[in-house]
Amino acid sequence: MLDLTNVRSTLSEHYDLEPNADLAASMQDIYSKMDRVITPADWVTFAPYVKAINEVKAKRNAVILGHNYMTPEIFHGVSDFVGDSLQLAIKATEVEADVIVQCGVHFMAETSKILSPSKTVLMPDMEAGCSLAESITAEGVEEMRAKYPGAPVVSYVNTTAEVKAASDICCTSSNAVAIVNAMESDTVIMTPDQYLAQNVANESHKNVVYWPGSCIVHEQYTAKDLRDFREWNPGTRLIAHPECPPDVVAEADFSGSTSGILKYVHDEKPEKAMLITECSMASNIADELPEVDFVGPCNMCPYMKKITLEKVLYVLHTMENQVEVDPEMADKARLSVQRMIDLSRQLGI
Ligand code: 13P
Ligand code: SF4
Repeated sequence: MLDLTNVRSTLSEHYDLEPNADLAASMQDIYSKMDRVITPADWVTFAPYVKAINEVKAKRNAVILGHNYMTPEIFHGVSDFVGDSLQLAIKATEVEADVIVQCGVHFMAETSKILSPSKTVLMPDMEAGCSLAESITAEGVEEMRAKYPGAPVVSYVNTTAEVKAASDICCTSSNAVAIVNAMESDTVIMTPDQYLAQNVANESHKNVVYWPGSCIVHEQYTAKDLRDFREWNPGTRLIAHPECPPDVVAEADFSGSTSGILKYVHDEKPEKAMLITECSMASNIADELPEVDFVGPCNMCPYMKKITLEKVLYVLHTMENQVEVDPEMADKARLSVQRMIDLSRQLGI
């Protein structure tokens, strides 16, 4: 675990990170991407970190891959590439940098390391986990295989390397239906998200059986919440991530991966939208889409929120928190991830 007192004293020895109004004003081009959601006072505090990170990043030949759930100062301030899990996994295979800083959760960093074993992959906080990844082990996968002999195992990328290695192929929320439909068998095992699996089953012709894991952020929404919200604020477009329970997805106007949601809002530009997912999603596009009023409650992912500018700068400075995956396990896990990437490309996703 990172010792924050040590993080702060190390950083203060090497960088001037005091709030700086002049510096903040000189970085208006970056601030203009988030000035509807980050206050000027906060920007004065963030600007020295953003500047320092961008300088160290260049020195280390590093790139920052930022998930769509990152806070705006990370998403707009320091990320070189942003996207959903599939887009970031593909990006990890394409970037030419020596170092990848994964601004997301641990399974995403592991996926980058699996795909780019020669690169150094840094996690700003090793404790940034995921309730789905923590819900299953390789033994769980074998249990499912024993219960449904011959059925292929499609594991969500929100899993550890060990689970990926024990699976036949991976999927993300943006390609899950297509991947499941492409399996030869009539019965397909999905792990570990029971709700994604049920949502996929509703759109596929396969008999989908699943592991009972869930996302602590999306499982909190109920169909009644959505109906009540519609009644209270008519005309709001309800847009849900497929990690939500199926009755929530059924109540929504659209469901898709984090990038699918962003694309939908960009394309449709609804007057009012409620994003039934993590809170940073709406904040990150508030400036690009001033015509859309983002309303309603959202839920915070406590794991994603462990990633801060301070920790990003610290790991880039010290090169601590390097993500390692046992090479033999990585070889097996890579097969599952690569099969997903290849199949997605083949299917035009
Ligand atoms: P996406 O693949 O849609 O980005 O989802 C990742 C995730 O963890 C959502 O909770
Ligand atoms: Fe995991 Fe849910 Fe957080 Fe995504 S939002 S990282 S699925 S806990």
